[in-house]
Amino acid sequence: MPVPLSINMKKYLIIISLLAMTLSMQAKSKKKSDTPAPGALKEVLVKNGILLGAAINQWEVAGEVPGAVPAIVANFNSAEAENCMKAEVIHPKEGVYDWKLADEFIDFCQRNNITAIGHCLVWHSQPAKWMFKDKNGEPASRPLLIERMKEHIFTVMQRYKGKVKGWDVVNEAILDDGTLRVSPWSELIGPDWIELAFRFAHEADPDAELYINDFSMAKPAKREAYLRLIRDFQQKGIRIDAIGMQSHNGVDYPDVVEYEKTLEAYAATGLKVMMTELDLNMLPNPKDWDGSAEVNKKAAYEEAMNPYKKGLTLEAQKIFNDRYLAFFGIYARHKESISRINFWGASDLNSWLNNWPIKGRTSYPLILDRQYKLKPVVNDIIKLFE
Ligand code: G3I
Repeated sequence: MPVPLSINMKKYLIIISLLAMTLSMQAKSKKKSDTPAPGALKEVLVKNGILLGAAINQWEVAGEVPGAVPAIVANFNSAEAENCMKAEVIHPKEGVYDWKLADEFIDFCQRNNITAIGHCLVWHSQPAKWMFKDKNGEPASRPLLIERMKEHIFTVMQRYKGKVKGWDVVNEAILDDGTLRVSPWSELIGPDWIELAFRFAHEADPDAELYINDFSMAKPAKREAYLRLIRDFQQKGIRIDAIGMQSHNGVDYPDVVEYEKTLEAYAATGLKVMMTELDLNMLPNPKDWDGSAEVNKKAAYEEAMNPYKKGLTLEAQKIFNDRYLAFFGIYARHKESISRINFWGASDLNSWLNNWPIKGRTSYPLILDRQYKLKPVVNDIIKLFE
């Protein structure tokens, strides 16, 4: 037999339920106000002369990833193909080009009024390996590899002439200690392979911007080596428009002071500076990691290395926010020197960091979450540029 409620009890329950409703409405409206407006960061950056972009993959371009296309179109005004313009994919055999995915990427950018950036023409990783062997299976001669490099650069750049604003002509050519990376390019052609690549690129498309790009650019020896290269190009009259600091950052690397010194030093050469592969690795790295983005480095899976399967803890979220604000604080201070900021991925869902250097982890490196929704920190980033 239910006990009848006194008048006072009824009043109390009404007040409690009204309070609960108010709190949940406040929470919803706070959450709503926390959620940054799509495109707001793009707009404030473009007012400062900075393009905002992301590396996008073939599945996002094809519209096969729920929520990806509207989020990419709303939030970014430039883009790079994460993989499909790399030599291994686009030039699989001598005389054979596979344009399908690259054409789809370019068409996607054109119909969505997104500035396309070409990544990348000459790289030691994912190369068209057939180029390094002659018809007898012997190492290609210098003249043969130079001819093949030139033909690749001309064919790719001229197919997309007028549709690609600029190209990562050479990717990751120098090591952290400032020495030239040893690769088939350096071994079979010699140290002038970088200069040749830029000369060919400028001949192929005199209207395209030409970039050199690398990771761990806060390392002083690497910085000095690129400064020497830039000065050498400028003395020889070789076109180079900008330098890409990939910016695959972590919670405890790079040193932000050295990072800012690098940005300033590159800007002082007169080149534009770009953050070309920006992300923030929130997951523990294998021991004695050197902050590298050396894609060929791998490590075995361990549960302890995958601590945020269900989401970042509040503490980790604060570290994420503070770290992104530290980097964007540097970008805001040097906004006249920066021409483009490009995230290495459109959202956490498809970040390469979910599987590198350890496969099968849940990472949170970007400003859009797994549902392609902007993270609250973007509101504070926007304030840095207003
Ligand atoms: O698409 C093929 C698939 O058909 C095949 O079955 C599978 C078998 O391994 O490979 C798939 O291709 C993979 C590709 O990503 C697309 O998912 C390649 O194996 C894999 O090596 C490739 O990894 C890319 C990596 O560069 C190497 O090219 C990452 O997605 C990409 O984020 C990463 O990006 C590089 C930049 O280009 C240069 N700077 C460093 C950055 C991070 O390493």
